[in-house]
Amino acid sequence: MTAKIISGSEVAKEIREELKQEVADLKERHNLVPGLVTILVGEDPASVSYVTAKQRTSHELGFYSKQDNQPADMAEDELLKLIDQYNSDPKIHGILVQLPLPKHIDEGKILYAIDPRKDVDGFHPVNVGKLMIGEPNYLPCTPAGIQQLLIRSGTKIEGADVVVVGRSNIVGKPIANILLQKREGANATVTVCHTRTREMASYTKRADILIVAAGKPKAITADMVREGAVVIDVGVNRIGKTPEGKAILCGDVDFEGVKEKASAITPVPGGVGPMTITMLMMNTVKAAKLAAGIA
Ligand code: GUN
Repeated sequence: MTAKIISGSEVAKEIREELKQEVADLKERHNLVPGLVTILVGEDPASVSYVTAKQRTSHELGFYSKQDNQPADMAEDELLKLIDQYNSDPKIHGILVQLPLPKHIDEGKILYAIDPRKDVDGFHPVNVGKLMIGEPNYLPCTPAGIQQLLIRSGTKIEGADVVVVGRSNIVGKPIANILLQKREGANATVTVCHTRTREMASYTKRADILIVAAGKPKAITADMVREGAVVIDVGVNRIGKTPEGKAILCGDVDFEGVKEKASAITPVPGGVGPMTITMLMMNTVKAAKLAAGIA
């Protein structure tokens, strides 16, 4: 079997077109412009490129958007003050603090400081807790994007055996929770594997849907995948550079081998990546509507 490629770039484009229309309607009918601020502390090259892409997309959709770049040695309480300022700025509906933060800043403290109503990343403990009890408000962007990819590619989720490899707060734990929800686009039987799992392949081989966020290049090989499985590769590993200096990327799945066994698979790049930014935009539109009492 050669797998169908699930193109995140195409699905993301489709959702962005829908959002663009919605933003235009909100402006025309309610004089409401979704506002997003992205705060970047320091100049980590990967973070700079993510934040630039987030800003570019929010411009394209017609948001009010602001990029707030701060020096790497910014004090923690300065950052807390800045967040407070945006918490009370009525033009800003979504606040994104790009992670990771420099070591001297306590990430947990910063995420706590963001008003949960403006937490479009879905990382605030209030929003994490709401997802846990089945009353989600803002879903974290990467897992929300994975769910959309599954739904829009026609993958049957209800009753499916889903195996997640990785237990991070950003991907593994929330995607497990999302697909476990008692609602449409979920209702799966979910297993989470991690670095201490014994005989990983005995779990991954059972999966109808295999979601890999292991943080290790090509960690999942064809022998670990069931014939006909749907495979979602969340990994982004920089494994070298082209002669022109562009990063060469690969996922956490051995794409060439696994595509011969899976029924559908996401590529890297062009799979989950474009969905993350798109879901951030979706959350920001939702935040604006909630603030205006429209949602
Ligand atoms: N760093 C890597 N992924 C993310 C994300 O989804 N949100 C934020 N804020 N930082 C990140």
